[in-house]
Amino acid sequence: VRLRSLLFVPGDSERKFEKARGVAADVLILDLEDAVSPPMKEKAREFVSEIVSDSRPRDWRAFVRINDLASGIARADLEAVVRPGLDGVLLPKANGAEDVQTLAGHLDALEAAHAMTAGSVKIVVVSTETPRAMFNLGSYTPAHPRLAGLTWGAEDLSAAIGATDNKEPDGTWTFPYQVARSLCLFAAAGAGVAPIDTLYADFRDSAGLERNCRLARRDGFTGRIAIHPDQVAIINAAFSPSADELALARSIVDAFAAAPELGAIGLDGKMYDIPHLRAAQRTLAAAEETP
Ligand code: COA
Ligand code: MG
Repeated sequence: VRLRSLLFVPGDSERKFEKARGVAADVLILDLEDAVSPPMKEKAREFVSEIVSDSRPRDWRAFVRINDLASGIARADLEAVVRPGLDGVLLPKANGAEDVQTLAGHLDALEAAHAMTAGSVKIVVVSTETPRAMFNLGSYTPAHPRLAGLTWGAEDLSAAIGATDNKEPDGTWTFPYQVARSLCLFAAAGAGVAPIDTLYADFRDSAGLERNCRLARRDGFTGRIAIHPDQVAIINAAFSPSADELALARSIVDAFAAAPELGAIGLDGKMYDIPHLRAAQRTLAAAEETP
């Protein structure tokens, strides 16, 4: 699955779902967790179950953010939404790979019960929402076969710690959350799954989002969470290689192909060696990937 733009949609909002399905997000994350108030949880489950089961063709993948495994209601969420049509589960407040194992066990049973292909429901983990989770980021390697990506969040982590803020006056993350973001990135890269940057809360600031996405892509993130439809096109563009980048990647790959005996080549006055070749191959592969 392509995990470039993932738009959150509160699971109890028919209106927002109608809007979201017309937006070009790779994934819609139908939320049953914190965007839904406790009295609305049951209604949200039923509504999300209907959306997932709708067999009409669609050009987006359906993920559901369930309540966390310690909430006491994660099982009920899964029982309602694991149906043919469900592409993935976003697991919040995970403490490490053991939680992936637990979730995968539930998915194994529910897929079998609903005659779904075993292993078809993928898992993306919100990997930094508890203090304990910060010490288990290495546990995602080797990756569980269902694990497709890691993302991170600062709000639940700072609330759990008791921080009074997680941003500097200029809007950048304070040091503890830069650590969380970086470790999520390394953990995802180590596990060979997609590193997905967290949301950009100021949804009216498109220029800020665009700048921020370029920094994320520079650092190695391959996609990002969206919380508002207006953010999706910006995220899709920022995490897709530009024509210039593609052209350069192609010339690097071609130059190495033309000189298989060389480990380093010169191109327009610059040196490129094997790590550059690998990066160029990744750029081309990402551009060819379909949703
Ligand atoms: N998905 C689908 N539609 C959305 C949307 C979303 N995430 N966010 C906003 N919209 C819709 C609105 O319903 C509105 O549609 P309408 O014109 O038919 O009424 C339109 O887009 C414009 O919305 P806007 O007025 O700019 O924002 P808002 O004040 O209605 O909503 C939020 C702001 C933050 C409440 C909303 O963006 C939202 O619910 N985001 C997702 C929250 C979430 O899931 N959080 C959990 C993960 S952190
Ligand atoms: Mg949260």
